Amino acid sequence: MNSVRLPAALGLLAGELLAQSGMSVEDRVTALLSRMTLDEKIGQMSQSTSIRTPLSEQFKAEIRAGRWGSFLNAGSVTDRAEAQRIAMKESRLGIPLLFARDVIHGYKTIFPIPLGQAASWNPELIEEAARQAAREATAEGIRWTFAPMLDIARDPRWGRVAESLGEDPFLAGTLGAAMVRGFQGRSLADPDSLAACAKHFAGYGAAEAGRDYNSVWLPEILLREVYFPPFHAARLAGVASFMTAFNALNGVPATGNRFLLRDILRGEWNYDGVVVSDYEAVPEMVRHGYARDDRDAATKALTAGVDMEMVSTSYVDRLKQLVESGSIGMNLIDAAVRNILRLKFRLGLFDQTIAPREVSPGPASLAIAERAAMESAVLLKNEGELLPLSGSVRTVAVIGPLADSRLDQVGTWSMDAVADAVQTPLAALRNRMGTGRVLYAPGLRNSRDRTTDGFPAAVEAARRADIVLLFLGEEQILSGEARSRAFLDLPGAQAALVDAIHQAGKPMVAVLMAGRPLTFHDVAAQARAVLYAWHPGAMGGPAISKLLFGDAAPSGRLPITFPRTVGQVPIYYSELRTGRPASEKELGIPLGNPEQPAGYTSKYIDVDFTPEYPFGFGLTYSRFEYSPVRLSAPVLRAAQPITASAEIVNRGARDGVETVQLYFHHVAASVAQPVRKLAGFQRVLLKPGESRRVSFQISSDDLAFYDQSRRRVTEPGRVQVWIAPDAARGSMAEFTVQSVTEPVE
Ligand code: BGC
Repeated sequence: MNSVRLPAALGLLAGELLAQSGMSVEDRVTALLSRMTLDEKIGQMSQSTSIRTPLSEQFKAEIRAGRWGSFLNAGSVTDRAEAQRIAMKESRLGIPLLFARDVIHGYKTIFPIPLGQAASWNPELIEEAARQAAREATAEGIRWTFAPMLDIARDPRWGRVAESLGEDPFLAGTLGAAMVRGFQGRSLADPDSLAACAKHFAGYGAAEAGRDYNSVWLPEILLREVYFPPFHAARLAGVASFMTAFNALNGVPATGNRFLLRDILRGEWNYDGVVVSDYEAVPEMVRHGYARDDRDAATKALTAGVDMEMVSTSYVDRLKQLVESGSIGMNLIDAAVRNILRLKFRLGLFDQTIAPREVSPGPASLAIAERAAMESAVLLKNEGELLPLSGSVRTVAVIGPLADSRLDQVGTWSMDAVADAVQTPLAALRNRMGTGRVLYAPGLRNSRDRTTDGFPAAVEAARRADIVLLFLGEEQILSGEARSRAFLDLPGAQAALVDAIHQAGKPMVAVLMAGRPLTFHDVAAQARAVLYAWHPGAMGGPAISKLLFGDAAPSGRLPITFPRTVGQVPIYYSELRTGRPASEKELGIPLGNPEQPAGYTSKYIDVDFTPEYPFGFGLTYSRFEYSPVRLSAPVLRAAQPITASAEIVNRGARDGVETVQLYFHHVAASVAQPVRKLAGFQRVLLKPGESRRVSFQISSDDLAFYDQSRRRVTEPGRVQVWIAPDAARGSMAEFTVQSVTEPVE
């Protein structure tokens, strides 16, 4: 029932009327809803992608009739302005449209892919990049982005690992919340605020066999411990919307999943934002074998809690009939429309008429892009401190298919990138050293090229140079949505190219640019230094060149474990121990009698069980030493947190940023706990010789986990703590948790 009385003003559109009335958002929603026809309500629940330039008369008529609530990827800036004018001035109720677009890692200025940004372990930087993306996109009339993607990704075969914030729930939650804050700014109502969207809820990253869209089976404890927390962190950061996932979760498609959308999101998390389906995911429930037809799919999506359907038209085609026949209650429609209108009011769409304008990357945004690219690069090897390159390097050979490819270095989701603003490593190196000192011979035309006719010129360039810089990796199109790979090796003839160059006998630095962890063991063995730059975005070139020459030092850390081979996948640090853990002593193929019980441990006989590079790993141009962990007390009692600290010293000759990581492990628990769990991190900048005590507080809530009855509890027992440079190293201390608190939530 509408409890708000509208002034009986005629001739004013509802939006303007309500804007003048000084009512609360909720009252404005109620008042507007009470005036809407069923058709208008269903229109609000529908997002179309079909705006074409120029707007057709038919489309204008549909907007006038209130047929669409939102547009995805809608036309040009002018089209958007015109469509909005028609919606607000010529439709019966003047309800504004909400323009959405995938602004994933920058809009006009492209920042590193999200997985690369995650390697910065720097929430402030990530927030700043998202803020800049929001400024650019909103200036062009877009007020809703479909980011951040918060799917935990532990399988590099899955192409969307590029869009993720890595394998760890704590890291992804911390960085995802920062991204939400960046997109949304101080208030959603600010004209440069971009509504964010936590996607894809939930479990999408655990697609079986790393094949995109594949089914997901995850026990509830794992969902609650690993897959939900980043979404919950976004919820706490005030994320404006959630998107469902394409996958079926435990046999029920996420888009029709009441457990996910009603019980968890709306119920436990008390969420009042918009839930949008993924692209055509509503009718896809028919193909999943979960809905009989699109009528059934519309019913199941709406009952589960999907407010808006993206692109497909099951809602528009079916909901009216379903309501009129009594199969669906009007209350369900009203609840969905309320969520949508609430967001439109919160965004101030009814109250602003700012003309969109075209933007392009400027110095300020490019500076953020350069810093983000620098901080996301991870130094994996630096034998004999080859890097940074000294001023005595006269000539460099620049080799490899990624050295000069603007398109490839921006990575997936960069359809709005301004190509002219993208600077490649080749361009940056030529700028820095002068064209004559840079011998460029790509060797291969692109990352998948298998031909070797470019090899001789590349080998010749290597012979003539002091140092070889290899730019290897994956071209843009090999990661992202629907880009799963069954092999993680460098594609094409890249490994053969490196073998050939190696013969020239010059020191080699490999810079890898890719959308996922690759396996490149032999290349790393041949190169003296390896820098993993991901797809670094517009300013990848200058950033890499500055890192190589030491104008800046690498500080990135892996947000995801790097396997030795695809056969180890999924591999992640936060695993359970098993009843037969292998030990470091058992690396390699076991010797002796294979029937010895000692050999019956959890490992492989053809490759080490450890990763190539562990989670959290990354070198700098300095060397840091950690003291043993000190605890403020041997026992943790419910209300008294313990402080764990360690002294970190920079023993190197240069300034360096060390990312200090806190992990813990419950020695015995009613549900076995991971060997380590990340619970905190701090980035500290230390000068040569400088030391700092880095402290973390651990409360009983930090130690809580889900027990067999799915209650979140802190159990008594022994807890081990590490303050460490990565997930595989560091010194350990132990304390006891004395009292039980249950449940914590
Ligand atoms: C993707 C989403 C994206 C949407 C809209 C879908 O295919 O899964 O992540 O936001 O398309 O472009």
